Amino acid sequence: MSAAVPQPAVPHLAVTDLVAGYVPDVPILRGASLRVDDGEIVAVLGPNGAGKSTLVKAVAGLVPARSGDILVRGESIRGLATHKLVGTGVAYVPQVGNVFTRLSVEENLELGGLGAPAKMRQRIAEMYALFPDLARFRRLAAGRLSGGQRQMVAVARALMAEPHLLMLDEPSAGLSPKMVELVFQKLLEIRSNAVSILLVEQNAKAALAICDRGYVLAEGRERFEGSGHDLLASPEVGALYLGSTTRLAS
Ligand SMILES: Nc1ncnc2c1ncn2[C@@H]1O[C@H](COP(=O)(O)OP(=O)(O)OP(=O)(O)O)[C@@H](O)[C@H]1O
Ligand SMILES: [Mg+2]
Repeated sequence: MSAAVPQPAVPHLAVTDLVAGYVPDVPILRGASLRVDDGEIVAVLGPNGAGKSTLVKAVAGLVPARSGDILVRGESIRGLATHKLVGTGVAYVPQVGNVFTRLSVEENLELGGLGAPAKMRQRIAEMYALFPDLARFRRLAAGRLSGGQRQMVAVARALMAEPHLLMLDEPSAGLSPKMVELVFQKLLEIRSNAVSILLVEQNAKAALAICDRGYVLAEGRERFEGSGHDLLASPEVGALYLGSTTRLAS
């Protein structure tokens, strides 16, 4: 009997040479590739209009892919209807409009849940353990919460379905530095519960500080890939953001 040959792990998400856009013949993504491995936090950075949101929307089936592929745990989901994404174990928190403002915190969580009522109760309790503030405000309309608390509701709702991959589009937008730190600490906690994370961010410094790897998108393609540490130290990445050779880390 021969010894078992170790197989390379299948990425949670692999996007290869993706061309996608809102209207035919106007590609916004022009051959973008990235992957998220088991247990990773992967940041997607880049200037305004680089295509970061379009990339996660394309994975979520909200923007049609014209060519290339999107694999979740090795299986193509290209062309999959958005409402079927949850069945593949991928959850998506959009950049805007990610909570139902008139519904209570708890009703928002219930909408994200799957399965029998007992299971739903148990998962809501887990979310309150992860986000104690939400337990305090469970009966309050989500629209009355602060920006940071609303972001927590959006993340908790996405986690209700027990995804293996969480895609977040700019969770730090509009938050105070202290709130950004809190939300990002939660992402580390979520990752330690066996959820991989694809994190689209404008806040490059904060994202690179917590990610395992990152990609910098520009003009619909990944221009740089590296560890958070290497990207922070890269003069080219600094130049793309700051218009000079200053590093983000300096
Ligand atoms: N609904 C849409 N219809 C047509 N074009 C769009 C639409 N949404 C975005 N675009 C275009 O796609 C390009 C990339 O936009 P996208 O939102 O992906 O950028 P982004 O990297 O997320 O930027 P930001 O940092 O500002 O969020 C832009 O040129 C934008 O004008
Ligand atoms: Mg965006």
